[in-house]
Amino acid sequence: MTRIISVASGKGGVGKTTFVANLSAALAHFGKSVIAVDANLTTSNLGLHLGVHLYPKTLHDVFEGKANIHEVVYDHKAGFKIIPADISFRKMKSVGVHSYVDVFYELLGDTDFIIIDTAAGLGKEAQTSIAAADEMITVTNPEMPAITDALKLGLLALRHETKNLGVVVNRVKGESQEIPIGHIENMLGVPVIGHIPEDKEVRRAIALKEPVVTYKPSSLAAQHIMAIAAKLIGEEYKPKIPIGLRLFGWLTK
Ligand SMILES: Nc1ncnc2c1ncn2[C@@H]1O[C@H](COP(=O)(O)OP(=O)(O)O)[C@@H](O)[C@H]1O
Ligand SMILES: [Mg+2]
Repeated sequence: MTRIISVASGKGGVGKTTFVANLSAALAHFGKSVIAVDANLTTSNLGLHLGVHLYPKTLHDVFEGKANIHEVVYDHKAGFKIIPADISFRKMKSVGVHSYVDVFYELLGDTDFIIIDTAAGLGKEAQTSIAAADEMITVTNPEMPAITDALKLGLLALRHETKNLGVVVNRVKGESQEIPIGHIENMLGVPVIGHIPEDKEVRRAIALKEPVVTYKPSSLAAQHIMAIAAKLIGEEYKPKIPIGLRLFGWLTK
């Protein structure tokens, strides 16, 4: 059965696209077939993160009736597929939930996971892909504004009957002012599926247009992302996390 997961965030810039690219690569590493979909129709950038941005046809063409969905599924060298959106500004009529549902329906059966890079915020563009998905993961940072937004996203998921799997806390530095996992779970009423440390290898990987899990599998960020992917599919994964990690304190606060 295909799992359709919307990766959402209240705020932009929290690391949603980074997580989508890396979760897709990590699931592919575990032998799953994955399609990452760029549903940021107005500010798309998944293709930029992955080093492929000049696609002849994109999701925009599908929604405008100019392409068939199978024409816009491209292979990425990290072992998963990508459905890109246009990176240039392209004016388009707003896309309804049924358009996404039709697109996903065509892909069912051929794939284990459809991972959606959802537009940031709580607007129509975000709501459309949350409604079309079966499950939602919220990416947040360990800061109050991002968490408040995540709470609102949880309410949206409830309204659209999309299962809220929980949150991934990204860019954890282990600093004392960060909100600890236990508090985040209490505030949101959903589990923290995992966290990803602040790691300069993530920025290096993005500069080289590669997911960090393939660019530097031994990095802290890559190992945490692998652990999150493993958890999603019920696989055993033991990260080789170096001793003396400051984050450990953050986790147990
Ligand atoms: N774990 C991390 N460690 C260090 N930098 C990160 C991490 N996650 C994201 N970033 C930085 O944040 C930027 C924004 O991430 P991005 O995935 O584009 O956010 P969003 O899709 O939520 O707008 C990236 O370009 C990268 O520089
Ligand atoms: Mg993004």
